[in-house]
Amino acid sequence: MVHRHTEKVETVDPEEFAKFNLVDTYNKAKDIYPTFTEGDEGRQRALDWAMLELKSLVQSGNDQTSSNGARVPADIYCVDIGCAHGQPVVQIFAEQGFEVTGVDISNGLLDQARRNLAYLPNAHFELADMRDWSPAPTRADGNVDCIFTFYVFGHLPLVDYEAMVAKMAGWLRPKTGILVLATVAQMHGWVTTRAATFPSTSLTIQENTALLERNGCEVVRAWEEEWSSKTMATEDSRTHQFICARRK
Ligand SMILES: C[S@@+](CC[C@H](N)C(=O)[O-])C[C@H]1O[C@@H](n2cnc3c(N)ncnc32)[C@H](O)[C@@H]1O
Repeated sequence: MVHRHTEKVETVDPEEFAKFNLVDTYNKAKDIYPTFTEGDEGRQRALDWAMLELKSLVQSGNDQTSSNGARVPADIYCVDIGCAHGQPVVQIFAEQGFEVTGVDISNGLLDQARRNLAYLPNAHFELADMRDWSPAPTRADGNVDCIFTFYVFGHLPLVDYEAMVAKMAGWLRPKTGILVLATVAQMHGWVTTRAATFPSTSLTIQENTALLERNGCEVVRAWEEEWSSKTMATEDSRTHQFICARRK
């Protein structure tokens, strides 16, 4: 049985939130984290949506009469913000032949990602705080096909949300670039899970939808669903929200 918000959540002072050492927390959790979200069906549904969209981009490019319109999988560029150990997101999309960059602040998790996915030359990893990172200039100005950010925004102080969404929306290719934003639904405070204790905060699905729409994206689908770790204790259960959007 899945319970709603059974984790221990207490309020947290915004200054403490901003000062919290996430790098250390995720580096310490690096051995436990890879199994933590296995079997996450909501994330899989969102990934399936993105995969269909990207495959149809390749297909429609090749349907155009001009040879300039043809796109091959290697032309598709994806970014995974908060990629952790690179699985499943970077792995699935790089195995499809797309170019993928995973960004994370945890060097411990990125070491695992580089080791796990060394067989994929089109999977790249960069150590950075997402607030300071942008793709290469040739990509950043409207040449990114897909951005994923699964369960990372909860680690951002709310004051940083709008700037981060505006920045990501600006990277996306107009009309076709897509973005999947997933986060824990309505959680504010210190959270204790088997993997770590950390501050977390989130907007409602309506607030996140409005945020994306006022930053030039159209929300294509949005839903919430209950999740419980299949591999760890049942107290690690919660409601997740998923928003699939496209740049206008
Ligand atoms: C809950 S995990 C989610 C990992 C992965 N996206 C998934 O779906 O399982 C959050 C990840 O975001 C990373 N992270 C947190 N804050 C970040 C920031 N400001 N910039 C880059 N990565 C960050 C953490 O190191 C961690 O790997």
